Amino acid sequence: MSLQGKTILVTGGAGFIGSHVVERLAAEQPARVIVVDDCFLGTPDNLDTARLLLGDRLSCHWQDAADMDAMRAIFEAEPVDVVYNMAVIPLPTSLERPKWTAEKNVVLTTTICELQREGRFQTLIHFSSSEVYGTAQYVPIDEGHPYVPSTPYAASKLAADYVALSYWHTFGLDIAVIRPFNNYGPRQNSGSYAGIIPIVVTRVLAGTPIEIFGDGLQTRDFIFVRDTAEAAMRVYLEPRTRGRVVNIATGRECTVNDLVTRLLHALGADNHPVVHVEPRLGDVRRHLAGTTLAAELLDFTPTTPLEEGLTQTVQWYLTNLSRHDPASVPAGQ
Ligand SMILES: NC(=O)c1ccc[n+]([C@@H]2O[C@H](COP(=O)([O-])OP(=O)(O)OC[C@H]3O[C@@H](n4cnc5c(N)ncnc54)[C@H](O)[C@@H]3O)[C@@H](O)[C@H]2O)c1
Repeated sequence: MSLQGKTILVTGGAGFIGSHVVERLAAEQPARVIVVDDCFLGTPDNLDTARLLLGDRLSCHWQDAADMDAMRAIFEAEPVDVVYNMAVIPLPTSLERPKWTAEKNVVLTTTICELQREGRFQTLIHFSSSEVYGTAQYVPIDEGHPYVPSTPYAASKLAADYVALSYWHTFGLDIAVIRPFNNYGPRQNSGSYAGIIPIVVTRVLAGTPIEIFGDGLQTRDFIFVRDTAEAAMRVYLEPRTRGRVVNIATGRECTVNDLVTRLLHALGADNHPVVHVEPRLGDVRRHLAGTTLAAELLDFTPTTPLEEGLTQTVQWYLTNLSRHDPASVPAGQ
């Protein structure tokens, strides 16, 4: 199996992880890469490097990937072999607009699965999220860990996973589910739904205190985004992933307090003020992934140590100042 010469469609390809997957795809020498993104959170300039790498082999459709008719038109215009399904409404939106987020995230996946059932492409690599596990009941969290989604976002991700796996089971379609833990790296959205790293950087630059949700002892398994993009290639290449879910993570946990300390150090701002605010609704307390399946099936181990990944990330934010909005939300996840 190879991605060389294939046409690959990426929903959410202008987003954080999506834009890194598109860049990584370029090294596989695809015939074409098609991005479908409605810019709910992603931006066209996230694909600047991908455009340099792929030239006119990259095309973008700035539209809703849940719109069946519009999606059919794209597939009819050009044959597609593989879909990476990454479009999503993010967790913080689900705290403000739970019904809309839950419905949208499920429809995004059922639309893609229906298009596959219609025979419009061969293989679906669907992106899940570690949020489906909720707080660890034991560690490391392997793929057999109970599902206790604690936010509407997490519930919608789990529902979408079950939809994808049901299409594999019922219709015999070629589908695998990749389940990343918390990603960090360049191009993570720094706007109103930002994750912890862009928030810390923007607050240091703005001279405002860092706000941590709760006591900051909640842990996450942070993986560098380019490592996740590498894993996404390997999931496609390995047929034993079909009909299965594979965790993608480092197998190490880091508290939010520790992460903030490391970030402040990387920014040369060790003494920057940090305050603790109310815990965020539904915040997961502990995440530490089991990574045995990824090692066995994909021969995958992340290669970027946290220290190095944070340095690269901070460097990226410092050289892309114009993209920063001073973040107005606390740094919880
Ligand atoms: N970032 C993480 O730490 C993380 C961890 C685990 C899993 N994931 C999963 O990885 C995938 C990518 O996440 P991300 O962090 O890059 O998120 P992101 O928000 O940066 O990217 C998602 C993209 O989907 C686009 N989008 C939203 N609704 C759309 C629609 N209706 N039609 C077309 N495009 C739409 C957004 O504009 C955005 O560009 C998601 O499935 C997410 O659940 C992310």
